[in-house]
Amino acid sequence: MTTKITVNDHLAQAQASFDEASNPRLVEILRSALKHLYAFVEETKLSREEWMAGIEFLTATGKKCDDVRQEFILLSDTLGVSMLVEMINQMPSDAATDPTVFGPFYVPGAPHFAMGSSIARKGNDGELLVFSGTVRGANGELLEHAQLDVWQVAPNGFYDVQDPASPPMSYRGVFETGPDGYFEILTTRPVDYQIPTDGPVGQLLRASGRHAWRPAHTHFMVSCPGYKTLITHAFDADSPNLDRDAVFGVRESLIIDMNGGTATFDLVLDAED
Ligand code: BEZ
Ligand code: FE
Repeated sequence: MTTKITVNDHLAQAQASFDEASNPRLVEILRSALKHLYAFVEETKLSREEWMAGIEFLTATGKKCDDVRQEFILLSDTLGVSMLVEMINQMPSDAATDPTVFGPFYVPGAPHFAMGSSIARKGNDGELLVFSGTVRGANGELLEHAQLDVWQVAPNGFYDVQDPASPPMSYRGVFETGPDGYFEILTTRPVDYQIPTDGPVGQLLRASGRHAWRPAHTHFMVSCPGYKTLITHAFDADSPNLDRDAVFGVRESLIIDMNGGTATFDLVLDAED
């Protein structure tokens, strides 16, 4: 009588197929991915039709990607996986500013601006806002020449890369702190906006009765030699979507008052290990 192969035997066989790979980290990741994928298929008793629907969804997700659209990142964002990766990789000390998601709309090479300059572009009417604050290390030291790469939506709720009518690099800029760690950025008050819903991720949101709103925020990527780079947002305390962010990125410590044309956002970086 022949013995039947169990699911565990089958998993062990598939995992062992990676053992000869020369990169041990790759082996670890692939073995673990298989373990969890097999457990998911077994636990849900996935039917052949459901498996095929999943394959078709992932195929459509790939087909939606191009140079400026990354539907897989959007999928990761809306499942909360992107935020989880940030939580694990940017684990801040108690003193440091909380990180949050990077998002798919960062564009490298934004123009450098002098202190107090505007990243707002003509033709967009919004509420003018001056962001100011300091960048410090976790021991309280003020950081001169820290770089702040800043981006946000225009008052129409779109990033420049989503809006053919927008000049390139609109609402983006790189600033530097002065000797007292101080920075000042002129912009317009960010608005709540919806993440793109015209692709498979939008279908997934609709199928699960979810909305696509992100609470109004401005993105900051802050770097300084000798310190860990911080990727975060400043959220507007008046947003109605703070407790239902489509990508689970809100942290209470990042919510600030943006009324009256000014907003203070003090940032603290951890030293490099
Ligand atoms: C963003 O804040 O730019 C963003 C983050 C995740 C998904 C879509 C947009
Ligand atoms: Fe954003």
